[in-house]
Amino acid sequence: TAVDEYTATHLLAPERNPHHEALEFAYSNSLAKGLPDIASYPGQGKFLSIQVQITGAKNILEVGTLGGYSAIWMAYGGGPDTHITSIEVDAHHKEVAEENIARAGLSGQIEVLLGRGVDVLPTLVEEVKADKRPPFDFVFIDADKQNNLAYFDLALQMVKPRTCIYVDNVVRRGHLVDEAYAKEDRIAGTRALIEAVGKKENVDAVVMQTVSIKNYDGFMISIAK
Ligand code: DHB
Ligand code: MG
Repeated sequence: TAVDEYTATHLLAPERNPHHEALEFAYSNSLAKGLPDIASYPGQGKFLSIQVQITGAKNILEVGTLGGYSAIWMAYGGGPDTHITSIEVDAHHKEVAEENIARAGLSGQIEVLLGRGVDVLPTLVEEVKADKRPPFDFVFIDADKQNNLAYFDLALQMVKPRTCIYVDNVVRRGHLVDEAYAKEDRIAGTRALIEAVGKKENVDAVVMQTVSIKNYDGFMISIAK
């Protein structure tokens, strides 16, 4: 926590981020409106923003909007010609996200679709295959972990070559490899993802463990070839 605080003082200084106020609003408004405290933290938001800048992504898919905090970071990272399609299952979360997105001036760039990922993603696959929607060039999966593999496989059907697919919260304080959690749906979902990705010839992936103000966790970063 002290390391995050020290480095953030220098690298995430509010006066050097023209979007600081909008991001802070999204974070605090989400908590005030009763959303769970599971949003990305500022350092992770910035990490995502930097990934979007490195990849040059312009058409991003997000599964799990929550209050829109990560989407706002990614949209600012990509710039005004970046579009984000984000899926959210909870109507109240979507409403709060749209309020946060509007406050950030990003309503024209971030579209929130209401529904379960497993229901909405197949409709997007159809639209991409029918050329009614461009393929995605960056994917952030951060929703119900039970369906991580389903989301990954659906995303794979609608990405451009060399797209980065990032899956959040795969380590979960080490529960990933703890016998006591092996049967928990969310851990089982993430294990199914990692084991399936390991067999895919068209995907290269790695898990990076993280310690931060948001505990010990980690993400899987992958490239769909
Ligand atoms: C949880 C989910 C998340 O996406 C996250 O970043 C942290 C926690 C959760 O469901 O507990
Ligand atoms: Mg998450």
